[in-house]
Amino acid sequence: MTHIVDQVSFGAIVQVRDRLLEQQARGRKVLRIESGDPSFDIPVIAREAMEKALRDGHTHYTASTGIPVLREAIFNKVRAENVLDVPSVDNVIVTSGAMNALYIIFRALLEAGDEVILPDPMWTEIAENIRLGGGTPRGVRLRAEGGYQFVAADIESAITPRTRAIFVNTPHNPTGAVLGREALESIAALAEKHNLILISDEAYEHVIFDGQKHVSIGSLPAARGRTISVFSLSKTYAMSGLRVGYIVVTDPLLLERMKKLVRCTVNGVNSVAQYGAAAAINGPQDATRAMAHEYQQRRDILFSALEEAPYVEAFRPGGAFFLWARIKEDWRGYDGKSDDWSMTNYLIDKAGIGSAPGSAFGPAGGGHIRFAFSCSTEQVTEAARLLPDVLRKA
Ligand SMILES: Cc1ncc(COP(=O)(O)O)c(C=O)c1O
Repeated sequence: MTHIVDQVSFGAIVQVRDRLLEQQARGRKVLRIESGDPSFDIPVIAREAMEKALRDGHTHYTASTGIPVLREAIFNKVRAENVLDVPSVDNVIVTSGAMNALYIIFRALLEAGDEVILPDPMWTEIAENIRLGGGTPRGVRLRAEGGYQFVAADIESAITPRTRAIFVNTPHNPTGAVLGREALESIAALAEKHNLILISDEAYEHVIFDGQKHVSIGSLPAARGRTISVFSLSKTYAMSGLRVGYIVVTDPLLLERMKKLVRCTVNGVNSVAQYGAAAAINGPQDATRAMAHEYQQRRDILFSALEEAPYVEAFRPGGAFFLWARIKEDWRGYDGKSDDWSMTNYLIDKAGIGSAPGSAFGPAGGGHIRFAFSCSTEQVTEAARLLPDVLRKA
């Protein structure tokens, strides 16, 4: 039998990144639009709070579920902004990024053989964390014709007696599709009908465009009491390296299991980062709004370029910072291959442009390519200038 950890990959994006860094080391200019790390600085108020925390000696163990001031800030935020029905601060668990939250959630929820339904394509680490929790991921294909929406009817046909949960992510990585209230209501109704748990990954809740408003599935009546919500400060406050995320869970047994898992894994997030997180959440949100505005401008720049380029059909994302494109049938390929890796390799070799091959995100991602516009506007603009021409020369 294969060891559970041996089922986890090292990740396609890491391979792309390594190749780009190798080229960069040889003196070549590269454009890092393969992965999603915000280019912005953290809010000043968060930086100052961390400097103060250091000066004040807040460098000791904290309560493993988080410092009270941060849990209180999160509790107030999720009730007011996400309209979650959370009874107490005790239902909030601070984690080392959303990644750590996801590990804990699947480990706490699943028993061997339990199935979790998730969108296909989906950010790779979701399926991996389901497997690490002993479960089986069941992908439901998102379709270009349907604007990559996660459709309740398709989800229902994937439900089996072993289904334990439905994983929802809006705005979505890798497509940038946003699920509106109606779509979320049908998914919540399905979860209620089949008595399933909903896991809602809202890492991109604040990276949303065109005046749309993010809706948290946990706020919908049918989802109450059956939703585990996951949030991250990585995108909202560009705090990706500081590793702060959180879980909101109301089910008492799951809450208890998650607290045990936090204690036995990270045992409390970096104390200084927690003070920064509390200040960011309690402070003015103008930096977050300004970032979303700039991401939208980058989206427009990159989307126009891809519309001009041959061989790709781009999807205009409503949120997150990814541009997902279908590779058209007339793509002749590169280096003897014509799959999505061939376009990724072609762009690295010919122009030093990074991308992620769609197949990395699940079987339905094959034949697609993902670009990220989280690096600087300057890099995005340069990539947009080069892309149509480089592809024309293929
Ligand atoms: C959908 C989604 N969820 C969660 C995360 C993890 O975020 P972090 O661990 O930085 O909080 C990411 C990061 O890329 C993501 O794309």
